[in-house]
Amino acid sequence: MKPIARIDYQVGPLDESGLAGSPLEQFRRWLEEADAAGIEEPNAMAMASVDERGQPHVRTLLCKEVTVDGFVFFTNYESDKARQIEANPQVGLCFHWQPAHRQVRVAGIATRIPQAESDEYFASRPRDAQLGAWSSPQSRVIPDRDYVRDRLGQVTEQFPDEVPRPPHWGGYLVRPSALEFWQGQPSRLHDRIRYIRRTDGGLDDPQAWMRERLAP
Ligand SMILES: Cc1cc2nc3c(=O)[nH]c(=O)nc-3n(C[C@H](O)[C@H](O)[C@H](O)COP(=O)(O)O)c2cc1C
Repeated sequence: MKPIARIDYQVGPLDESGLAGSPLEQFRRWLEEADAAGIEEPNAMAMASVDERGQPHVRTLLCKEVTVDGFVFFTNYESDKARQIEANPQVGLCFHWQPAHRQVRVAGIATRIPQAESDEYFASRPRDAQLGAWSSPQSRVIPDRDYVRDRLGQVTEQFPDEVPRPPHWGGYLVRPSALEFWQGQPSRLHDRIRYIRRTDGGLDDPQAWMRERLAP
């Protein structure tokens, strides 16, 4: 690999006095700042799950909602990630906003969201994305490139008007047990603030979280 330039992060610190009142507010603030800074798909996150042998697998997903309960993404319930989650719902998330030198890590439990909520989100998607959900047996081995295109042709004919949500497609909610906000700083003396769940309260409830600073 060719040498890659080292960057000394010259941005403001993450100070306890400057933190938002709750982890939800702090996350939304950083997400909005990343969006306002023009970062493309600031809701993209890495999601790690483990298989039955304990092997971790990581892939990028789009976080479609952040609520007091946690982080929501949508996928195929028959994909590898979904099979892993059904067997072991412990997952990790990681957002990285490179130009802002910021990272947010989440550890939590993933559960399916109610079907009505998946229906609602599916109905809001563009038609080609809806048809795509029907045509791709996500994570399965397929014979060639045409396989999914042929299926797309079939479902396009099958659903000339409204496209119903496939039963194998929907959302997961990741309910955090811990979150960490990381802010890059000069001389690698980065700031790390971790929130650990104390009670059953929401992400918007400061009393539900214990806060601590970690060494970089
Ligand atoms: C920027 C980006 C966003 C993505 N968003 C999603 C998503 O929201 N849902 C999804 O199922 N896959 C998404 N993918 C594809 C996944 O990374 C992955 O390839 C796919 O879900 C299959 O993963 P699995 O075989 O581990 O189940 C995205 C990929 C990229 C690069």
